[in-house]
Amino acid sequence: MEFRPAMGRERFRSIWRRAARAAPSLNGLARTLNSMDATARATPPPPSSHTRPVQAPISRDAPRSGPRLGHGLERFDPLKRRAADTPGLISFAGGLPAPGEFPRSKLAASFVRALQNPSRPALPWSWPEGDEDLRAWIAGQLRRRGAQVARDDVIVTSGARQAVSLAAQLVRGSRARIGVDRESSPGALDRFQELGATVVDGDSNVDAYYLMPAVSNPRGRTLSRSDRARVLSTLRPIIEDDAYADLSFDGAAPRPLLAEAPDRVFHVGTFSKTLCPGLRVGWLVPPRSLRAEALQLKQSADQQAASLPQAILEDYLRTEDFDQRLVRLREFYGRRAARMERALRKHLPGWRFDPPAGGFAIWVEPDAEPNEAFFLAAAIEHGVAFDPGSLFRAHGAVNPFALRLCFSSVACDEDLDEGVRRLARCWAEVA
Ligand SMILES: Cc1ncc(COP(=O)(O)O)c(C=O)c1O
Repeated sequence: MEFRPAMGRERFRSIWRRAARAAPSLNGLARTLNSMDATARATPPPPSSHTRPVQAPISRDAPRSGPRLGHGLERFDPLKRRAADTPGLISFAGGLPAPGEFPRSKLAASFVRALQNPSRPALPWSWPEGDEDLRAWIAGQLRRRGAQVARDDVIVTSGARQAVSLAAQLVRGSRARIGVDRESSPGALDRFQELGATVVDGDSNVDAYYLMPAVSNPRGRTLSRSDRARVLSTLRPIIEDDAYADLSFDGAAPRPLLAEAPDRVFHVGTFSKTLCPGLRVGWLVPPRSLRAEALQLKQSADQQAASLPQAILEDYLRTEDFDQRLVRLREFYGRRAARMERALRKHLPGWRFDPPAGGFAIWVEPDAEPNEAFFLAAAIEHGVAFDPGSLFRAHGAVNPFALRLCFSSVACDEDLDEGVRRLARCWAEVA
């Protein structure tokens, strides 16, 4: 679906009428759609090779394909904010870790020690490549997985997102054709398009690939042996986003593509999924021949990843057993995934999904195709939220209708069951 200035109020008129007829509680839905409309009118889409005009007004019955506007996440911003402001809402959106798994008191202790440590200044600026000990730790983790990485190969970044962005700039200038999975990470898709790259799904005629071989987002899949061999055999650069690699339910993270082709793999990692996204610490291992250029880009972007979070992390990793933490997290999220699978089979038996191999979410393709924005707004009225499938597609296609359901960040198992029951009730009304 798409919000274009040209469509004006027309687009939502039929929804408002239906909303008013359906139930008093749907008045909120009409208000939400109204605010989405207003935001869309205020935010014209950036120029993009994928942008094409919308043909028909939105309605709850008619599913439509639409282009990705380059700001996939922004498109649903009013609904996301509304969901966040809805008391009692159960959110399956966002790709967030379980809040109960944030090691608050340990990070607090590391924070205090980091500030008090005279040999490790946490408050001044530092070098653009980042903290030495932290880089050594990251390199060590990658060596354990079979990649020959030295401390100085690692650049600490402001989250994986910045690492992906730097890699995309290095891949082949701004006009690269970047091959992605049919569904991929929205932040990366948006960034590629903002940089002027063409994002291509299912096409081998590309300059580079962006992949999540260990555990993909949103499907939670591992790249098959044959696809792995095929991609490597193309000899093209690969941006390997390993954000979820440590959260594969079967065990330790697999051998990265970096181990096979260090001369053309841009390896990306982050602490956002295994520790907390608020620290904003990730990393990039670019090919050695491009390290100087990567550092130059990094420095001109933000000088360095923030010193204080790096100092906190460095202390935390020195004093905690991170391997043990990962074992616990894999079990925790694996159990959550299994629980959501059971709830979906029970309450929404017509919804198709493949059990994920890891990560935070289940990608589901229901058995009907209602209008995506309408269904999301209706779900929020029922007290549950999810990530709409079109966000994950390079061209913003809404068909086949799909949802990403994150089991990771709900407060407890009972909320997970209740959230699926609410989705089922909403589905029965809307689909
Ligand atoms: C696959 C993937 N890569 C990168 C990111 C962003 O990570 P960070 O918070 O480190 O920027 C996310 C999550 O938001 C993600 O799902």
